[in-house]
Amino acid sequence: MKKKLVSLALAAAMGMTLLAGCGGSTGSTGSEAAGTSSTAESAAASTAESAAASVAEGSSDLASAKVGVCIYQFADNFMTLFRQELESYLVAQGFDKGNITIVDGANDQATQSGQIDNFIADNVDVLIINLVNSSSAATVTDKVVEAGIPLVYINREPDADEQQRWTDNDWNVCYVGCDARQSGTFQGEIIADLGLDAVDFNKNGKIDYIMIEGDPENVDAAYRTEFSVKALTDAGLEVNCLDDQVGMWDQVKGAELVANSLSQHGTDIEVVFCNNDAMALGALQSIQSAGRKVGEDIYLVGVDALTEVVQYVIDGSITGTVFNNHFAQADGAADAAINYLTGAGNEHNIQCDYTKVTADNAQEILDSLS
Ligand code: GAL
Repeated sequence: MKKKLVSLALAAAMGMTLLAGCGGSTGSTGSEAAGTSSTAESAAASTAESAAASVAEGSSDLASAKVGVCIYQFADNFMTLFRQELESYLVAQGFDKGNITIVDGANDQATQSGQIDNFIADNVDVLIINLVNSSSAATVTDKVVEAGIPLVYINREPDADEQQRWTDNDWNVCYVGCDARQSGTFQGEIIADLGLDAVDFNKNGKIDYIMIEGDPENVDAAYRTEFSVKALTDAGLEVNCLDDQVGMWDQVKGAELVANSLSQHGTDIEVVFCNNDAMALGALQSIQSAGRKVGEDIYLVGVDALTEVVQYVIDGSITGTVFNNHFAQADGAADAAINYLTGAGNEHNIQCDYTKVTADNAQEILDSLS
């Protein structure tokens, strides 16, 4: 049975503008919508009208449920770990692997929108979507809700206005993810904890840094940029941004940008902040090519805790990273999908925690990844 849309009026453009450049970039307030979460009970109430309810009524057996998963881009290290965990966890919970379809949006919203249309035409029982463009959330929500399919957003958090619509309309729509502000704070703390003396190689009394940002389509980029620097200033340190560039989460771009920055600013650069580990791996290549040595004349931090990076934290080639818990996020998204299918329902915003990774706990984190 189709669920009627109550209103399309609030489908406001949510595009978050992130202008790279020193002096700070701020995004829209996606995570602030955590406060708008409705109760699991109210979410469950509307489930009666959804297609998912028929699964719950007919059978508690998840093996026959069809799951559609849209990933913004397969060529993304972190989202590869995420989707692998998502699939194996769904199978472990009783879904049939043949009923789980995971598609690659190839970083193109038009491609992804077509994939969503196909999933709707195919009558999937639940959708898990990692948007290409966060600003498409309202349009995507409207068509998926109209089709009566429960929807779990992952990784790219729709903004507060969009999440408010889910609450106001009691739709079976939620977001599962971690609060990127925390990851930025942890990055900054990793540097602040070293102390000014250890970091201030040029003895100008400031932390001279460069920032390599991810794709602004994910609010994670803006939050990590803002909160890593805020953690330094909150610790009473003076900061000096020498360069701020968008590397699109990409290792090759990260390497290029850091190489350029190093040739322009040379030994004035004391810290390289990368919004993710793929770009930190690229940064490390350029740091080494420039004859610099992490821990001796420069520091480098990322986010995600890719295995390779955690290994580098252990051997000292990378100062630290932040574990972006793909297990908790993937399992949480699968659990949310199951809750819709069984009629239990969900809160609209489900959050998990990041973990700071330094030489002190890197081995433990590495062990937990395998
Ligand atoms: C971030 C992650 C990045 C990239 C991005 C994709 O959370 O840290 O590495 O995967 O999501 O939106």
